[in-house]
Amino acid sequence: MTTTLTFLGHSAFQIDTSGHSILIDPFLTGNPAASTTAAELHPDVIIVSHGHSDHVGDTIEIARRTNALVIANHEIITWLKRHGVKKTHDMHLGGRHRFEFGTVKLTVAHHGSMLPDGSYGGNPAGILLGTTDGYIYHAADTALFSDMRLTGDVGLKVAILPIGDNYTIGPDDAVLATQLLRPEFVIPVHYDTFPLICQDAAAWSEAVASQTSAVPVVLCPGQSWTISAAGCG
Ligand code: NI
Ligand code: MN
Repeated sequence: MTTTLTFLGHSAFQIDTSGHSILIDPFLTGNPAASTTAAELHPDVIIVSHGHSDHVGDTIEIARRTNALVIANHEIITWLKRHGVKKTHDMHLGGRHRFEFGTVKLTVAHHGSMLPDGSYGGNPAGILLGTTDGYIYHAADTALFSDMRLTGDVGLKVAILPIGDNYTIGPDDAVLATQLLRPEFVIPVHYDTFPLICQDAAAWSEAVASQTSAVPVVLCPGQSWTISAAGCG
């Protein structure tokens, strides 16, 4: 089995693993960096990290159209059900569950989670996805916190970290996060979508390469990267 990660822009990923297609935080409509449209996506699973519109994104539309299973915290799932999403699985921070495609654990994230209409979105989460090719940790939106080290203790294949600053950790804290998480590969997200979060990903890559044991993998929106290939392709 190979696991392929496709960066869809901002913080959105499509992860194809074990014959399943998983979307994380599918923000396409209104995303200036989106590499595709919501209508072109055919996932069977959608995982939502928190309630903000740049993460919930097109979840309702895609889930209604494809009947994909949506996984998120209890509050977000309750809200999605009210909006016509039928197939859901609610979890909460610290909980892990085994699905057909692998395991999901919602981890702590220090951030907010209000839903687009002002509804309460519960606590924000990071996503620890266990695949046949190892653990993928999508930190989503968060501040730096030392307990990232505990998440790293499982032995991460890939960490996906925001570097945009302002709303999330910036480049310097993302290097420190990489030191705590100790992944084999680290992918920067949540930058260059809007002027406020523009960053120099190449400079960040050099800092990661010189200050951590991880290999930085910078993906342009639309670009795919396969774990077993161990390179940026
Ligand atoms: Ni957010
Ligand atoms: Mn965000």
